[in-house]
Amino acid sequence: MKIAVLPGDGIGPEIVAQATKVLEALRSDGLKIEMEHAYIGGAGYDAAGDPLPEATLKLAQESDAVLLGAVGGYQYDNLPRPMRPEQGLLRIRKGLGLFANLRPALLYPELASASTLKPEVVSGLDIMILRELTGDIYFGQPRGIRTLENGERQGFDTMHYSESEIRRVAHVGFQIAMKRGKKLCSVDKANVLDTSMFWREIVTEVAKEYPQVELSHMYVDNAAMQLVRAPKQFDVILTGNIFGDILSDEASMLTGSIGMLPSASLDINNKGMYEPSHGSAPDIAGKDIANPLATILSAAMMLRYTFNDEANATRIENAVKRALAQGYRTGDIYTEGTKKIGCNAMGDAVVAAL
Ligand code: NAD
Ligand code: IPM
Ligand code: MN
Repeated sequence: MKIAVLPGDGIGPEIVAQATKVLEALRSDGLKIEMEHAYIGGAGYDAAGDPLPEATLKLAQESDAVLLGAVGGYQYDNLPRPMRPEQGLLRIRKGLGLFANLRPALLYPELASASTLKPEVVSGLDIMILRELTGDIYFGQPRGIRTLENGERQGFDTMHYSESEIRRVAHVGFQIAMKRGKKLCSVDKANVLDTSMFWREIVTEVAKEYPQVELSHMYVDNAAMQLVRAPKQFDVILTGNIFGDILSDEASMLTGSIGMLPSASLDINNKGMYEPSHGSAPDIAGKDIANPLATILSAAMMLRYTFNDEANATRIENAVKRALAQGYRTGDIYTEGTKKIGCNAMGDAVVAAL
């Protein structure tokens, strides 16, 4: 199995190095993988003048899976839109057809007091957020900044979802729900947006093929509130690209930190890209303090979803649990009485626990 490794920017290289260290440890124990590194994001722009260099997309296409860190940095924020690091990420998602973004918000019991919410609100939390990833206002045309007839300038974007886009992600949602608690909550803004009204209609239609799954609908503003009021009411949350982006960052805090939320972005054949849900955290980059667990857990998701290697996926997850049970914490999940360590040391702790 070939893995394209794309560290990207900011803390990307630091956290990805911990995940590859874990994969290397499994390799020396018999896991058959090879890894090849390439540039993406600001690093791609610096190396090849393009946030998604052609060679990187080619490597990703030829590989069985992609492991990605994060992209973005202050020094790139004023580049023209097509050259910005985030475009590299959006293009590789689109280019590989990765429409189904799984973001599991799972609370490790050891971290119940690391969350900003009360332990009783989050203990036992296990939500799967399924975010559509290649449509919505992220990719809709037209968009831009234009000058109106009265001379005023206006920024605009277009939100749309086609029936096939909604259908395929809804099927993934119901199939995931079938393997879990058989509850799916579709989140939209159907009281205001036509795109959402249509989303709700199609999801309701697809639901007929999954009679065992209990479908509910919720407006996104209420969902944002319910996530902090009573998050355990959710099993699978199915939503569009932009709502999923926002709600998954919110849900990450239920698990203690954004540094704990992994993700899998899958195409129709479960080929995928695996990355933490957080960004390049330029405020802490280069300091060896970032939490690498979201990236390490993303590597576990890679083994599960693309390589069908449940045993090694579980092995990584158990090693993370063990490292946490031993009291190791990076700064973002540190609580009194635990041992604060750096990014690299956390990678070592997980490898030792393997
Ligand atoms: P961010 O997720 O990078 O950081 C938000 C906050 O969370 C920061 O305080 C950061 O220090 C902290 N944080 C994030 N990951 C952490 C980790 N592993 N351990 C400890 N703390 C962590 O979001 P932002 O600050 O809004 O964006 C920074 C840059 O990252 C921007 O350029 C943005 O476009 C980009 N970004 C990229 C991705 C991605 O590559 N998938 C995702 C989100 C944002
Ligand atoms: C994420 C990020 C990206 C997104 C950005 C960096 C393009 O926030 O992966 O959640 O909005 O999808
Ligand atoms: Mn995001």
